[in-house]
Order: sequence, then structure tokens, then C-alpha cells
Amino acid sequence: MKSILKSISSGIEYPLDEVRFTSDNGELLDVIHDFDALKKKYPLTREYFLSKRSSINGQPSGGVWHFKELVLPDIAESEIVSKQEGNTRLYRTKKISSWLGLNKEKFFLKHEGENPTGSFKDRGMTAAITMAKHLKQKAVTCASTGNTSASLAAYASEAELTGIVLIPKGNVAVGKISQALAYGTKTLVVNGDFDDCMRLIREAQETLSAYPLNSINPFRLEGQKTIMWEILQQRNWQVPDWIVFPGGNLGNTSAFGKALHEAHQLGLIDRLPRLAVIQAEGASPFYKAYKNNFSGLKTEKAETIATAIKIGDPVNYTKAVRALKWTNGIVESVTDEEILEAKANVDAAGIGAEPASCATVAGIKKLIASGEIKTNETVVGILTGNILKDPQVIVDYHFNRKTALANPPHDVEASIEEIKKYLS
Ligand code: F0G
Repeated sequence: MKSILKSISSGIEYPLDEVRFTSDNGELLDVIHDFDALKKKYPLTREYFLSKRSSINGQPSGGVWHFKELVLPDIAESEIVSKQEGNTRLYRTKKISSWLGLNKEKFFLKHEGENPTGSFKDRGMTAAITMAKHLKQKAVTCASTGNTSASLAAYASEAELTGIVLIPKGNVAVGKISQALAYGTKTLVVNGDFDDCMRLIREAQETLSAYPLNSINPFRLEGQKTIMWEILQQRNWQVPDWIVFPGGNLGNTSAFGKALHEAHQLGLIDRLPRLAVIQAEGASPFYKAYKNNFSGLKTEKAETIATAIKIGDPVNYTKAVRALKWTNGIVESVTDEEILEAKANVDAAGIGAEPASCATVAGIKKLIASGEIKTNETVVGILTGNILKDPQVIVDYHFNRKTALANPPHDVEASIEEIKKYLS
């Protein structure tokens, strides 16, 4: 059997090549692969993936397409639009682990900011834009807090599709809006917030005749699953105790849950790591729902310095709840101050990441303090976006703060004596 689309609660099935994002009764859709049929074609074991040499159209690939059999098995290799996304580093860092009080040998940071456009979005984008082409779409669109629009812009250009992005006015970091403009996508600055942009995308799907590439698109999540499998493979399929990452629209939460569930079903892992989703306090509807035993999602007006996750109405809520159930996962929230302190530490370690990404490290700190994460456990944190995405936050911090890590520049006259005087 070929892969299909299936609604997540009532199990209504649709063919993979039907253009739709929800079922007729309004549920989110999963891409379901037929593992039994696939196993007859490919071994799909740890050894298979460890020894496999993957390539796309003659170029060594690795990354997302290393796992093509479990992402888009039925799509011809020649149809794939790829910029060799994935293959990101799994850092071990003494400075950050000692700041957190974790064992350096057991703490890792997976840097998704090292993808082609500087965020994890590229992993989802390569899969979803490939499907957009496959489905003969002419235009692609998204609502975005910045990174999705940057990624869409680059991939739409590569795929020769018209790109249209909706971003909230005054709430997108300069690095991200620069990318959307530079890669040549139509950029609409909406007088509203991200949730308004997302609502417009859902309403305008038909009238705009543009194919949405937000994480409501189930193919985005198929690409993002590979973050989990790549971590497992980089660790020789040894399962960590925790995977910690920021949550906004909850696409990653949903994708990570599905990836781990599938890896378990396939026998690639014998237990699941626990997911810990970190939200900014001012944009924490998922955290609040978690605290209420998921009795319902109350949307909110979001506010946080971490603009990437400034989202009050996450579209993937139901899938994210399922992911936490599968993984015995938890949700934590952190203040903007905690995010900035964590960011100063991540940056000063010579690694660096954008504010939303550093919610990961702030969350780990808080979960260690509360005893939820034990200091002898193995923890993998995900840094979702590159340090250069949001330079304004960095400049504001280092020019204006009086903290131990604040590192303001100094003006000097053009003379070696002046420089010597300053350095002494
Ligand atoms: N981190 C970064 C850097 C992001 O850009 C996003 C989402 C997230 C975390 C949250 O991930 O939505 O899967 O829970 N950015 C989207 C965008 C919303 O438009 O770029 P999520």
C-alpha cells in the first residue's frame, strides 16, 4: 500500500495526493506509511541506516533524505527539491553544561540553526515544497513569525514557485525579514499578530490559490521528524532521557512525537525519550493546557521577546497533546529574563542561537532546579535557529545590561597607545 493521509482521531483516510490539510470533520491529518510493505523493500533497521550511503540526484545527501523511506517513500528522487538540509551538529559544551550543572558527557545541543536558511524549518520545507511541486501547485504561502517565511522564500525560489508570506507587523526579527525580501518572495506585512496571519492563511487557502506551507501541512512534519532520527543515529541509536525544545505552533512537538513513536514501532529504539516543551511565559497556552490536564486549549494574546514563538493559538495542539502522551512528556514555561540569561550563556560559549532557541536552555535550567531533570540524566536540547537571525536582541543586551556576561564594545582613537591603555 502507498502512504496515505489519515485524520488523527476518527481515522478518515484520504489519498496522499489530495490537496487538503484537515479532514471533512476538521481534524488534523497525519501522513501514514505502510511499514510492513516498506520493510519488504528496505531492511529499515539501525544497521541499515548506519551503513547506508544516501544521495539525491547524484549528490551525497545525508540529513532529511537519508530517511527518505520514512519521509516520502513514494516520491521519485528526481522530484525532490533539496538544499542538503539536516546533518546538523550535536555539540557537547563544557561551558553550558557546567552552567546548567549537567555532566558534560551527557549533555548535547543539536544546532538546527545550521540548516541552509538558518533554522529547522528547512527540514520541513524540503518535504513540503517537494509535495507542492508534485501536486502541481503554482504558488506557496505561509503565515510566519519569520523563520518559515525565510525558508519558504528560499525553497520557492529554488523550485520556481511563487512565494507569498504573511508576517506580523513589527514582530519579525531583522535577519528573517531580510531573508524573505532577499530571496524574492512576496512579503505582506500584516497589521496584526501571528495568529491573525495564520487565520488569514487558513481562510484564504482557496481564494489565494496558494498552497500553505505552515506546519498544518502534514508533509512539513514528515521532514521535521528527521531531527529525532538524526539525533538517535548520531548517538548510535542510544536513547537519551530527555529531548528539550521550544514550542510555538507545536509543529516540532507533533513531529518529534510521531518520529519517536514510529522509531519504536519499527524496533529502532526500545524505549522513548521524554519530551520537554518549553514556552515563553507570555506565550504559553500549551503550558497552561498541560497544567489543566489538557482539558482544553485557551488561546491568548501572546507577548515575548522570543518573537519566533510569540503564538497564542497553536494550530497543532491536538497532535502535540498526543506526542506528550506517547513520550510521557512535560511542558514548562520560562520568563523573558530567563531566556535572555540562557541566551547570554549559549552565545558566550561560542555556539549562539536566537532567543526562542535559548528557551530550551532556560527550560533545562528550570527543570533541573525543580528536580524534574536529574543531573545524571542524558539531555539533548534543540537550538532551533541561528544566532544571526535576531541581532537586535544581542545588541540591546550587550549595550544596555550590567550583567557578568554583558560585553559592550569600546570606542578608541586610532592609535596603538589608546588600544594598549584600554587593554591594560
Ligand atoms: N524556534 C524557532 C526559531 C522558530 O522559528 C519556531 C517557530 C519555533 C521554535 C517553534 O516551533 O512552531 O514547531 O512549535 N517558528 C514559526 C515561524 C512559527 O513562522 O517561523 P513550533
